[in-house]
Amino acid sequence: MLNNLQKDILKLKEDKNAIILAHNYQTGDIQEIADFIGDSLELCIEASQITESDLVVFCGVDFMAETAAILNPDKKIVLPDKKAECPMAHMLPAEEIKKARERYPDAAVVLYINTLAEAKAEADILCTSSNAVAVVESLKEDQILFGPDMNLASYVSGQVVDKEIITIPEGGHCYVHKMFHKGDIIMREKYPDAVLLVHPECDVEMQAEADEVLSTGGMISYVAKSDLQTFIIGTEVDLVTRLRRENPDKTILPLLSEAICENMKLHTLDKVKNSLLNEEFVVAVDKEIADKSRKAVERMLEV
Ligand code: 13P
Ligand code: SF4
Repeated sequence: MLNNLQKDILKLKEDKNAIILAHNYQTGDIQEIADFIGDSLELCIEASQITESDLVVFCGVDFMAETAAILNPDKKIVLPDKKAECPMAHMLPAEEIKKARERYPDAAVVLYINTLAEAKAEADILCTSSNAVAVVESLKEDQILFGPDMNLASYVSGQVVDKEIITIPEGGHCYVHKMFHKGDIIMREKYPDAVLLVHPECDVEMQAEADEVLSTGGMISYVAKSDLQTFIIGTEVDLVTRLRRENPDKTILPLLSEAICENMKLHTLDKVKNSLLNEEFVVAVDKEIADKSRKAVERMLEV
């Protein structure tokens, strides 16, 4: 049952002809009022197909809302809390990509969607955690500059063995997925029949321990289709919230209940209501940067 605040938001949403897009790491109360919940790729595809709505409330972090703004230059995209930034996306400045290109002139630049718009403008193509392998395989170049996540880079390098993956910057990472350590595998001893799913942003040793390495959207489909009963989830805890809601007959356990992305949690129902009422905080991307980065986003969507 929805509470009064959630009902107010749904009414306002209708009055304003708005839609709410939410990443899988949003809290359950926001997931319940979203028009669409997904991983980075699904949100990007959804954003590329917005036609009817005038206002898009994006419950995710800065790089996701920027991508929606890049794909919809004529629409108003708002973030309920303007400080919702992904620290990893800030680890790769555009300047560093330009320098790497000078050092490796024959390499293709593949950037994780977790980057700022000015970095995206320097990329040949983008990728997300669900399509990174397919994107890299689609390229003719043998040498790939890949950033900013070193763990996703290692994952891709293990899957696409005939290409050289050069990581930029050194040590780019997600602080949430860095919280998982091999010691947490204790969960496996407690639940020997459980399937361990981890995100490719986890350290390589965690990836090696897992049954599957998947994006958050990949985990949603995997659990929905599986005939098995118990799943241990190695990513941000609110993915567990969504999995439990959608799979009430299965047992879904977080690998680590402290794995919380504080940046995603800045959005609250009160702030979502405010963003609809006052149409703030608008996500603006400089036109020249948006035009340049749109090419890299669209090239990824073609793959
Ligand atoms: P997904 O695309 O798998 O949802 O990952 C986004 C992200 O920020 C993971 O930390
Ligand atoms: Fe960024 Fe990590 Fe949060 Fe994902 S979980 S938004 S990569 S800080």
